Amino acid sequence: MLRVVLARAARSARRTTHFDLDFPREPQLEPYWCHKHRRECRPVETSAQFLRRYTLDTLARLREFAHLRARGRTATVIHGDVREQELGRFDGVLTSPPYPGLIDYHEQHRYAYELLGLDDRREREVGAAAAGTSRPALAAYSDGIVAALVNAKHSLRRGAPVLIVVNDRRDLYPEILERAGLRLEERLRRHVNRRTGRRAGEFFEDVLIAR
Ligand SMILES: C[S@@+](CC[C@H](N)C(=O)[O-])C[C@H]1O[C@@H](n2cnc3c(N)ncnc32)[C@H](O)[C@@H]1O
Repeated sequence: MLRVVLARAARSARRTTHFDLDFPREPQLEPYWCHKHRRECRPVETSAQFLRRYTLDTLARLREFAHLRARGRTATVIHGDVREQELGRFDGVLTSPPYPGLIDYHEQHRYAYELLGLDDRREREVGAAAAGTSRPALAAYSDGIVAALVNAKHSLRRGAPVLIVVNDRRDLYPEILERAGLRLEERLRRHVNRRTGRRAGEFFEDVLIAR
């Protein structure tokens, strides 16, 4: 648990600007004009307040979860490639897949991989930013998500729901679902308003409900 606290604190204590938490390029060492807060902000100087804040917050979350959690239920976290991972039996899937060419997750969360002692499998990331958004990259992305859904389907009873959270602005998912043998039942639109970093415009995501 302390390592999780440390990873959360490390993310907040990075010397980056408030408006570029997602893709910091170089350490911000001096005060700067902050586009997010519209005033001069200072880079982080000490991590103590974050360690304190996340220790208390993590304890509060554990306590809250202990109330909600059904007796005898366990949760398992698997660090594996979902295209080939043996998953067990389940009544449903809820997934938030990567978007093509947007984020290098290993790189963006490198501090956490190192602090938690997870091995680096960046070459297995589907839709990594490093792969870009060329036509072959998008085709590889679709193949990857199809393989993930087909593998997940093996673990589900017939007719079980598969919920996918996406911003499908390239309209890739109708074909992905069809290739994975899933039928779209409903599409719920969701406004995303708690975002880090500075990005242009409003952002919406869909929750695709398929079976
Ligand atoms: C949009 S994020 C969602 C993360 C998580 N569901 C959450 O809400 O915090 C997409 C995730 O897919 C992971 N991912 C990419 N390729 C993968 C693969 N082949 N197998 C398993 N996970 C993968 C990325 O590392 C990233 O954590």
